[in-house]
Amino acid sequence: MKTALITGASSGIGKQTALALAKQEYRLILVARDLSKGQRAVDEIKSQFPETEVSFTSLDTTHFDSVREFTAKLRSDGQAIDVMVLNAGLFTPKLKLSKSGHEYMFATTHLGHFLLTHGLLPLLKKSSDPRIVVTSSIAHWVGYFTDFFKLKTVSSSSLLMAAPFASYGRSKLANLFFVRGFDQRVPGIKINAFHPGAVQTDIWRDTPGVFQRLIGPMLVTEQQGASTQIWLASTPDLTASGEYFVNKKKALTSPWSQKKSMIDQLWDYSLSELGIKQFGEPE
Ligand SMILES: NC(=O)c1ccc[n+]([C@@H]2O[C@H](COP(=O)([O-])OP(=O)(O)OC[C@H]3O[C@@H](n4cnc5c(N)ncnc54)[C@H](OP(=O)(O)O)[C@@H]3O)[C@@H](O)[C@H]2O)c1
Repeated sequence: MKTALITGASSGIGKQTALALAKQEYRLILVARDLSKGQRAVDEIKSQFPETEVSFTSLDTTHFDSVREFTAKLRSDGQAIDVMVLNAGLFTPKLKLSKSGHEYMFATTHLGHFLLTHGLLPLLKKSSDPRIVVTSSIAHWVGYFTDFFKLKTVSSSSLLMAAPFASYGRSKLANLFFVRGFDQRVPGIKINAFHPGAVQTDIWRDTPGVFQRLIGPMLVTEQQGASTQIWLASTPDLTASGEYFVNKKKALTSPWSQKKSMIDQLWDYSLSELGIKQFGEPE
């Protein structure tokens, strides 16, 4: 039996992937913040696929001590992880800092997942076909990094409507830097990013009303949004790694996302902010 760990699995795209992998008889380890929402997702999976071995852990990926505790517990259990779906993400209409002092979307989407992957690499290496799937977005095109120090401040420009969108884009650009940085450094594990499309999920809840009215007619269903994620996680004939997909096809990414110097800078910044000496070798 294969095991999949999915972050942001309590709703939207992540929950659809959990359901699809339950159907394929994966054992599921699910993570998100809200315990009751997570429990409802587990109930839904169990009602459709009663044989599924599924656990839910309430974990905020920006709470780095909790992420460390969670990964240490899984390592002590010792069971291989075949697929990690790094999917947790959100849009905050006002910029705010995480407990760790980083911009919250960036901390959720990038730093928390970086730390999770570091802590669970020994379990991924136990799999015969280990994979990581990262939910990025077409929004990475509006992301940029000029000054890493700014990741720890919420500037006055955050009052402008554009600033949260730019920061969301930056968090999704960080996903691509991570995929490429990981692929260059860790052999034998397939890692890919994808854009799910504009999907009818809770993520739009906090965007401005006018924006919701504009985007509303274009949104696809959660099932459609999850299809590339499910495919990258479970198709038997996947060979790609370090790539970005849209509708199960390789797609172009922004010029920024391909800058080797930025990939390396973000990697080193992440190691230093998270106090990691050797990536993938948790103490
Ligand atoms: N919907 C779209 O059109 C679209 C387009 C491009 C990319 N995406 C990406 O797709 C991914 C899934 O989003 P979705 O659209 O399915 O929205 P969603 O239904 O709101 O799902 C987001 C999931 O992430 C969890 N989450 C949020 N912040 C977290 C944190 N700090 N720690 C742990 N879990 C957290 C949420 O649960 P809790 O709130 O309980 O933690 C929820 O399970 C996100 O990365 C999003 O950026 C979505």
